[in-house]
Amino acid sequence: MNAISRLATVISLASLLPVAAFPVTTLAAESKGSVEVVHWWTSGGEKAAVDVLKAQVEKDGFTWKDGAVAGGGGSTAMTVLKSRAVAGNPPGVAQIKGPDIQEWASTGLLDTDILKDVAKAEKWDSLLDKKVSDTVKYEGDYVAVPVNIHRVNWLWINPEVFKKAGITKNPTTLEEFYAAGDKLKAAGFIALAHGGQPWQDSTVFEAVVLSVMGADGYKKALVDLDDKALTGPDMVKALTELKKVATYMDADGKGQDWNLEAAKVINGKAGMQIMGDWAKSEWTAAKKVAGKDYECVAFPGTDKAFTYNIDSLAVFKQKDKGTAAGQQDIAKVVLGENFQKVFSINKGSIPVRNDMLGDMAKYGFDSCAQTAAKDFLTDAKSGGLQPSMAHNMATTLAVQGAFFDVVTNYINDPKADPADAAKKLGAAVQSAK
Ligand code: GAL
Repeated sequence: MNAISRLATVISLASLLPVAAFPVTTLAAESKGSVEVVHWWTSGGEKAAVDVLKAQVEKDGFTWKDGAVAGGGGSTAMTVLKSRAVAGNPPGVAQIKGPDIQEWASTGLLDTDILKDVAKAEKWDSLLDKKVSDTVKYEGDYVAVPVNIHRVNWLWINPEVFKKAGITKNPTTLEEFYAAGDKLKAAGFIALAHGGQPWQDSTVFEAVVLSVMGADGYKKALVDLDDKALTGPDMVKALTELKKVATYMDADGKGQDWNLEAAKVINGKAGMQIMGDWAKSEWTAAKKVAGKDYECVAFPGTDKAFTYNIDSLAVFKQKDKGTAAGQQDIAKVVLGENFQKVFSINKGSIPVRNDMLGDMAKYGFDSCAQTAAKDFLTDAKSGGLQPSMAHNMATTLAVQGAFFDVVTNYINDPKADPADAAKKLGAAVQSAK
């Protein structure tokens, strides 16, 4: 059974359950309507960003019901969302990304009408890159509003720690990365801050695949799911390098949250972290300045490529008129110029609006965000712009789960063989498709 019909089967069972069994929330007299938003923005920096949205929606007269579900990368939030849908009680709005949006829309639970007027009035079709708008549309209708764009293939560096370890240059190749890692270890630092959760392991895996196989090879293997690319010699090489990268990972990082690992780089205990630019939200929350207190460089060997991750808020069909008005308000706020600026500055991302991406300095974005926007626009023309597998942009969650299992087992198995792992990857992905 393919992933879409799997989700559809689960959800259709929901119709057998009595909706009336669920409590109806009572609204404060002055509220125009209440809207619950399920998301996984719970680290200090992420919370600062989502609070910008909450404050505006409340200012507009709506009640914001916070549906935060902790857990980086969102797998726990997605599990909660599925059980809410099965119980016939989905929230008004939920953070859903990539092909998963189409999957949810095909169950009939997302609202294909509610965003029509806002999208037309605010000219979303001309504001957004087609790659972005296609991601949030189902059969031509918007079913989600895109919030921001994250770049995933970043390496975060504490320059003070580098200096103490005698490293004079930021690594641009895997060899230089290993050399820096050796010096950091020798000087008593954690070389690579890393939390050993499956989504974090796969964030590193996809960066290494991009470095070794290039954007074309990345696309064949992780987007097109081509069996030859998944099991061939280049993938074996990528897995060999991954095992080497793993030797620099924090020994205390098993099961650790990404933001706690980011804190180790911020506090000078570790030298580097491979993470998407939501990591910048933690540096920003700690009042650190890009280019001075920390450096963001493309993961070695990937400076001509950009793995993208678009956060989006999908709208679920709701009977209550106030909730529907709240959904429209959120959609309008999110694509507004001021929100796009303030949210992304807090979140570490870049705006989704084309007009803003071309003029980042004007909006006060720092050097990391300016580089990201420039690379996004350049790499879109060269084929270097690729959807992130680890962040739900390239495949369904079922296929992503197959990658996560094989990659995490491979990293943790001391006897693992790269050629054997590549075979396993091919087989697991084929059966999850
Ligand atoms: C990503 C998400 C980001 C950030 C990160 C850590 O998948 O797109 O917004 O929340 O996970 O949880």
